[in-house]
Amino acid sequence: MRKKIIIANWKMNKTLGEGLQLVEEITKELNTQTQSDVLKIIAPSFIHLASLADKLKLNGFEIAAQNCHHISKGAYTGEVSAEMVASTGAKYVIIGHSERRMYFGESNDLLAQKVNSALSNNLTPVFCIGENLTERNANKHLEAVTKQLKEGLFHLSPTDFGKLIIAYEPVWAIGTGVTATVHQAQGMHNHIRSEINKKYGKDISSTIPILYGGSCNPKNAKELFACIDVDGGLIGGASLNAPDFVAIVNSIGN
Ligand code: PGA
Repeated sequence: MRKKIIIANWKMNKTLGEGLQLVEEITKELNTQTQSDVLKIIAPSFIHLASLADKLKLNGFEIAAQNCHHISKGAYTGEVSAEMVASTGAKYVIIGHSERRMYFGESNDLLAQKVNSALSNNLTPVFCIGENLTERNANKHLEAVTKQLKEGLFHLSPTDFGKLIIAYEPVWAIGTGVTATVHQAQGMHNHIRSEINKKYGKDISSTIPILYGGSCNPKNAKELFACIDVDGGLIGGASLNAPDFVAIVNSIGN
């Protein structure tokens, strides 16, 4: 039985005060008893990690960074290493989000190095993959995602690969209000699992969590999470207000 996971990706939103308030509102609204088996992770900005870590842990949340640098330390002004992230109490780090790939030119090769750096600092990478609209329309979505998997992750040993969380986020669904259909999401999650099976075998492919992300909201979450190969969600816009985020958390397994 795979773990159910919901991750809030706040992106470049929320001041410290707003973040603290949102955590308070989410905690108040969340029925922790019925959802104790859902792993809930919040990814605020780097600068709020340390300030939010204690509060989040007390309330049953884990904390994630949204990125990290691929080198362990040095003269890289403005950058944040995996070791620094880990020192705040964060256990997870999102790597390869499409906004990082798109706006900051992060390649699969660079992302592979980030994954290595995260793992060597005992952080769990939440590795994002997903095709863009051109690839989807050209019916090249399966091969686009396979390439990201192979180039970003398939250098890992089975032991390290087994520590990952994967997030399938079709680029055309992120922040657009257009969600993948259940058929599209399940089809891709199944494809990802079968590629992992070919490389690492069934023990790993059947236990690795694969989350869906892309305009997930309280209306569509339940049917997406009901897909056999979807183990939860990576939530952007709808994680920025407590009622929507809590409704999404509560839609898993209910
Ligand atoms: P969205 O973002 O829910 O706002 O589409 C998801 C993500 O980018 O992780």
